[in-house]
Amino acid sequence: MKELRLAIVGHRFMGRAHSNAWNQVSKFFDPAVKPVMQVACGRDEEALRAFAERWGWAGIETDWRRVLERDDIDAIDIATPTHLHAEIAIAAAEAGKHVFCEKPFANTLAEGEAMLAAAEKAGVVHYLNHNYRRCPAVLLAKRLIDEGEIGEVYHWRGAYQQSWLVNPQHPLDWKLRKATAAAGPLWDLGSHAVDLAHFLVGDFAEIECRGKQFVAERPLAEDHTATGEVEVECAALITGEFQNGALASIETTRYATGRRNRHTFEIYGRKGALAWDMEDMNRLQFYSGKDPADRLGFRDILVTESVHDYVGSWWPSGHIIGYEHAFVHAAIDFLDACANGGTVEPDFRDGVRSLKVLEAAAASMETGRRVRLA
Ligand SMILES: NC(=O)c1ccc[n+]([C@@H]2O[C@H](COP(=O)([O-])OP(=O)(O)OC[C@H]3O[C@@H](n4cnc5c(N)ncnc54)[C@H](O)[C@@H]3O)[C@@H](O)[C@H]2O)c1
Repeated sequence: MKELRLAIVGHRFMGRAHSNAWNQVSKFFDPAVKPVMQVACGRDEEALRAFAERWGWAGIETDWRRVLERDDIDAIDIATPTHLHAEIAIAAAEAGKHVFCEKPFANTLAEGEAMLAAAEKAGVVHYLNHNYRRCPAVLLAKRLIDEGEIGEVYHWRGAYQQSWLVNPQHPLDWKLRKATAAAGPLWDLGSHAVDLAHFLVGDFAEIECRGKQFVAERPLAEDHTATGEVEVECAALITGEFQNGALASIETTRYATGRRNRHTFEIYGRKGALAWDMEDMNRLQFYSGKDPADRLGFRDILVTESVHDYVGSWWPSGHIIGYEHAFVHAAIDFLDACANGGTVEPDFRDGVRSLKVLEAAAASMETGRRVRLA
């Protein structure tokens, strides 16, 4: 069987989630190429060696540029802070490597456009990891929308709420600095919410955004006795309108006390409605106006039958899956695209599409003005 030799850059949260996916994918699916976990890259050699050993990476490198020079690497998996995505992805494409990239796509639209241009010029497979698109319940929502079950869409209500910054002692890490993260939850969480809105409803026509800073100073990650300025917003609320006329609201925050990682959407249409909550990710709520009057109400579909996307490859029908499974679903589709010269969505085109919305929202947050996108 043909092999796809992988390198990963970054070995913490997403490094672990991706490594798990590369390990699992051939056990539950039949990829057209066998993933070979060739090299893990990071800066802390000791931690990197332990990571590589635990997750099954054959070797390590401490400079991603050296990884790209190697001719025994076919694809690069980018799991680093956001400011590094553009430089690594462009260099990887120029070296002829396929690219599996974490979100948010890049710090700026200009960077994102350069990444897309480099990937298209090189003819490599490019994938952007908005993993929530590959939750079976979200894919069922997409199918119901495409089959006309909810009709013309009136409202998209998205929210991505976390609470890890409620603790004032949480240090000033890379996600709170402009240079490394571009923005706060608008980029980090908003990129996921906007991607799902694109996937399920369509493109935006205009956007308004209001940001808020609750805590302006935090202990430095490297020295807890000193503090530094939080350079990004703490919460961002987007409202807008899609090109198809539906209204949108998206709430992104790291200050939703008690909401640990709550990513939700509600879609209200002329004929029906849908609702999903990541914290109960196997369920889809579906309201159909076609139901008889004495049965009207939201039904609760547990999306665990083998007929649903990806589900049949896991356990017997009726058994739930979890957070890590959507990463495995991305891995199988990426491997197949690399093997067949195909594409896998969302890709760098979707990254550019989302960055246009996020930059418009950031501009609105700054000026207080509505921004037209189309
Ligand atoms: N898909 C999702 O739902 C999801 C969830 C969390 C994070 N992310 C994204 O994944 C990316 C990584 O986030 P994370 O939470 O894993 O961050 P993290 O801080 O846990 O890990 C970052 C890793 O990058 C490495 N790194 C930093 N600079 C490097 C360099 N110059 N060369 C090589 N390695 C370097 C660090 O050593 C670390 O291993 C970010 O873009 C983030 O937005 C996505």
